[in-house]
Amino acid sequence: MTIRPIITAPDPRLKVRSETIAVVDDSVRQLLDDMYETMAAAPGIGLAAIQIGQPRSAIVVCLNAPEDEERRPYYLVNPEVVWRSDEEILHDEGCLSLPDQFAEVVRPAEVRVRYLDYEGEEQELHAAELLARCILHEMDHLQGVLFVDHISVIKRNIILRKLVKARRQQASA
Ligand code: NI
Repeated sequence: MTIRPIITAPDPRLKVRSETIAVVDDSVRQLLDDMYETMAAAPGIGLAAIQIGQPRSAIVVCLNAPEDEERRPYYLVNPEVVWRSDEEILHDEGCLSLPDQFAEVVRPAEVRVRYLDYEGEEQELHAAELLARCILHEMDHLQGVLFVDHISVIKRNIILRKLVKARRQQASA
């Protein structure tokens, strides 16, 4: 397992649509392991493969704190939403690719997702609240969509300008 650098916005790679994974083999499991390590070290609660530069349809989600013994990550390969609730929730959201930036985003309260697990077995997961939000956020990454694409252009530009400025300051530090 290797911690990979996380791509931060604005970066054209984050706009790329990820490709379906044909077979969950050892190379895919290695990718999932690296994603998990990278997410846990950040720390974060979710990561999509494109965030470490791999345009492949895979996400990792884990809501437990890193020190939690009950920690159980979800590995979702080729996830697709098969059902979403009519009820929607407005809630604050952040992203490892937009460090220290947050905005309120509307998402369905509950979803049912079909995917291939770490072993390549087809699974369905019913998720609610934060888990649903996190899965949908990571699935957006697979379509090249960031949480700021759900908010107003004005708010989005403010956040993106802050990120450009932060990067410039980092480069000159
Ligand atoms: Ni994100």
